[in-house]
Amino acid sequence: MFSMQLVSSRGGQSLAREDRRIGRVRAYEPSDAAAVLAINAENVPAVGEMDEEKLAFFARTATFFVVAENTNDVPLGFLIGLDNDAAAGYTSPNYAHFTAKYAAELAYVDRVAVTESAQGQGLGPAMYNAFEAWAIGFGKGVLAAEVNTIPDNPHSHHFHQTFGFTETGRGRPYGPDEEVAYYEKVLRRA
Ligand SMILES: CC(C)(COP(=O)(O)OP(=O)(O)OC[C@H]1O[C@@H](n2cnc3c(N)ncnc32)[C@H](O)[C@@H]1OP(=O)(O)O)[C@@H](O)C(=O)NCCC(=O)NCCS
Repeated sequence: MFSMQLVSSRGGQSLAREDRRIGRVRAYEPSDAAAVLAINAENVPAVGEMDEEKLAFFARTATFFVVAENTNDVPLGFLIGLDNDAAAGYTSPNYAHFTAKYAAELAYVDRVAVTESAQGQGLGPAMYNAFEAWAIGFGKGVLAAEVNTIPDNPHSHHFHQTFGFTETGRGRPYGPDEEVAYYEKVLRRA
């Protein structure tokens, strides 16, 4: 799909220069499966659970699937993005919330996760920058994602808010014990 060097928006400096461990964002490959499953498992419940079958589903259907890796080619994080119909048959109620609202305009972050030891170094923003660029290039109008409020995920709220997302509502599609905030970022076309 593509590969790009990780570039921080903080002063435009390459993150690789600030931390030699950090390499690049590149397309997901089947050989990343074990690492992606481990990073996902480490970050539940901030992200939903994912088994091999679900990962295979995303690998088949996701319009955008990247990993961020270190300079030794070890994946440190991943982002799975969907448009409105690439994941036909996907029953997530949060995905349905956004597809009903935006149809073909939608670029949806199904999940993003960074391994704990590499969090806070800009990998999440780097993958979002890549997804945003992809979405603009494909004429999408809005980036969308949900973030847990019960149980709360303050790091992710902060990240989405500083990345330019606005909260547009809340939902409890999985019952009273879990709640999400819906976040959206309108994309400016070039
Ligand atoms: C949430 C998560 C994806 C964020 O990724 P991260 O790489 O840890 O993000 P960082 O903390 O480096 O980035 C947030 C920072 O990016 C900054 N930022 C916002 N937009 C940016 C941009 N375009 N470029 C660079 N930095 C940006 C923010 O200001 C914030 O910086 P600050 O902490 O100095 O204020 C990651 O921490 C994670 O995987 N958490 C566990 C799983 C999870 O919560 N996933 C999301 C579920 S909704």
